[in-house]
Amino acid sequence: MKVLVTGGAGYIGSHTTLCLLEEGHNVVVLDNLVNSNLESLRRVQQLSGRSLEFRELDLLNAEAVSNLLAEGNFEAVIHFAGLKAVGESVEQPLRYYQNNIVGTLNLLHGMEAHGVRRLVFSSSATVYGASQDVPLTEKAPLDATNPYGRTKEHIEDILTDLGAADTDWSIALLRYFNPVGAHESGLIGEDPVGVPNNLLPFVAQVAVGRRNKVMVFGDDYPTADGTGVRDYIHVMDLAAGHLAALGYLANRKGVFRWNLGTGRGSSVLEVIEAFGAAVGRPIPYEITGRRPGDSAVSYADPSAALADLSWAAHRDLRQMCQDHWRWQQTNPVGYSSDG
Ligand code: NAD
Ligand code: WQD
Repeated sequence: MKVLVTGGAGYIGSHTTLCLLEEGHNVVVLDNLVNSNLESLRRVQQLSGRSLEFRELDLLNAEAVSNLLAEGNFEAVIHFAGLKAVGESVEQPLRYYQNNIVGTLNLLHGMEAHGVRRLVFSSSATVYGASQDVPLTEKAPLDATNPYGRTKEHIEDILTDLGAADTDWSIALLRYFNPVGAHESGLIGEDPVGVPNNLLPFVAQVAVGRRNKVMVFGDDYPTADGTGVRDYIHVMDLAAGHLAALGYLANRKGVFRWNLGTGRGSSVLEVIEAFGAAVGRPIPYEITGRRPGDSAVSYADPSAALADLSWAAHRDLRQMCQDHWRWQQTNPVGYSSDG
């Protein structure tokens, strides 16, 4: 199958692109490199032994996106491209709505105009908002609490309306929980720009000596050890979920939504301990105040994905930390060579 992958140079996109190539698909990656490095795709090609086509393009350039879809003969699109930093989205809401929503609309117009009606979209567990019953099923009400999350919720609405208006579309909305880890080779992984927002990349940078200690955001939550609980999922399990969704859409029309998580929660202190075990020495940390907007506990009920897609995550926290550490240790400054 010929697949267009938007945002394919990024963290989840590069791992999924690798899986697509390994499964024999032909891949064109569209990315403006605003949060990624082309080196990721060089390594994806090295690992797979196959080549892909790269287009440095911004989804906000509607004409260029439409031209690519006109000439591409694509059977499907996997749409990762978007901005994803929660705090930044609070400070720059217009940039987030413009990039994520207008970028998606440009993509959808191009797909519609050129007869491509199969789409896998990167949604997020963030659409569920805070303080809901766990495990979260796909039926939980949507209640995003920040502009980034609302871009995902709005795009889900747009895609739902599109699927209702034109029943030729096949659309998967994949709600990821907390993606972590790296390909087992250690060649590709997450390479955040600046100070990491997310726990695992921060812990990894402490482990490699780029930062002094992890700040644990609150130990007074109603959880076993008082720290926040999340459903961390290995990025390679997540990548496999995209291929499963693509396969499901091949002979079905409609709009489908699935949680992609493990169904198990881990606390911040459990993650710090598991990462320390992978590294072979304890990770220094300090308890500080809660981060505004954080929920106490979030984890998935992933049973719909198992039933519909025969997909389940099977890598555990130990492997997530080992693989994340292998990547960080062998690439202490990520993909950049200048430190
Ligand atoms: P990432 O930043 O590594 O990848 C996103 C890619 O999109 C980057 O390569 C970036 O350069 C590109 N991009 C952004 N805006 C673009 C535009 N206008 N035109 C072209 N390219 C553009 O992020 P990721 O972690 O790989 O996330 C991929 C998707 O999954 C995003 O949509 C994100 O919101 C979603 N998601 C991520 C997480 C997570 O914790 N990583 C969780 C849930 C959902
Ligand atoms: C995990 C836990 C923190 C950093 C975010 C987005 C969500 C999705 C995934 C895209 C929490 C604690 C964190 C630190 C800490 N992204 N923590 N010290 O907040 O569950 O989800 O990423 O869709 O939209 O909101 O993930 O990794 O930031 O935090 O103690 O330095 O670690 O309080 O309990 P989160 P996270």
